[in-house]
Amino acid sequence: MVKPAVLLTKRIPRSAFTRLEAACAVDLNDHETDLTHDELVQRVRGKQGLIALLTNTVNKDVIAAASDLKVIANIAVGYNNIDVPAARARGIVVTNTPDVLTESSADLTWALILGITRRVVEGDRLVRAGQWKGWALDFMLGTELGGKQLGIVGMGRIGRAVATRAAVFGMRIAYTSRTPQEIPNAEPMPLDRLLSTSDVVSLHCPLTPETRHLINQPAFARMKRSAYLINTSRGPVVDEAALAWALKNRLIAGAALDVYEEEPKVHPDLLSLENIVLAPHLGSATTETRTAMADLAVRNAIAVLTGQAPLTPVA
Ligand code: DGY
Repeated sequence: MVKPAVLLTKRIPRSAFTRLEAACAVDLNDHETDLTHDELVQRVRGKQGLIALLTNTVNKDVIAAASDLKVIANIAVGYNNIDVPAARARGIVVTNTPDVLTESSADLTWALILGITRRVVEGDRLVRAGQWKGWALDFMLGTELGGKQLGIVGMGRIGRAVATRAAVFGMRIAYTSRTPQEIPNAEPMPLDRLLSTSDVVSLHCPLTPETRHLINQPAFARMKRSAYLINTSRGPVVDEAALAWALKNRLIAGAALDVYEEEPKVHPDLLSLENIVLAPHLGSATTETRTAMADLAVRNAIAVLTGQAPLTPVA
């Protein structure tokens, strides 16, 4: 039997690759660099499957070039890099990798919350620069979390996992959610109220036309001057220029980002600020999670290509 042809846009862990190779004829981009848009269009031709990363823009051109395509399996939970309506119009199944990255992403969110409120990265910079003069009662004071309010924007899987961890730190939870849901010990509220009452605001919503620049100048103006903003969702949910303005003018106390508007670029004004932690999109970056993500994407692609239902199609 002829194996279905699959384009794999980057190397994946061996266990997932072995599974894929056993079922499909794999065209692997074995280079460190991502395929350019033209290369992607070129190499997807004649393929039945595409296993893509969030750094691959799978737009109308890519979809139009692949007349035999049956499945686009994204190795990410977010799928704003894929033109889903265009894929649907062609009957192509799109899948993502939910659940397997929930815990690692929630852990990283907490690393950022603690990192910025306790000034860990700023302190590290100071020590390395040889500027530490020794312990002092009033040196590098941060902010405690106990008794404060954590505002979660987007109460999906990752938002809920972040909320679960908050109990250990004695934080109250406020949240916004697209769909009504009952979360124990957490108060649903409109975004404006969440912004004006929270001590830490953590973003966990998908990037959609409605959430692009959701956190903009008016949003920062609403936040407490002592508040912190954490973004581990998608960069364009925050207007980075407005964030730089808010941090410089001390409208908020600090921010920690894992995602950026134009990765890997970072708004230049953010780079020189002390009151921000900048992580390089590490939300799901553990060996265990990345292996599970690749494995799930491969299983999704094989399922569709062998006439079975995908495990995790996008809604
Ligand atoms: C995702 O899966 O959407 C994450 O951003 C990857 O780290």
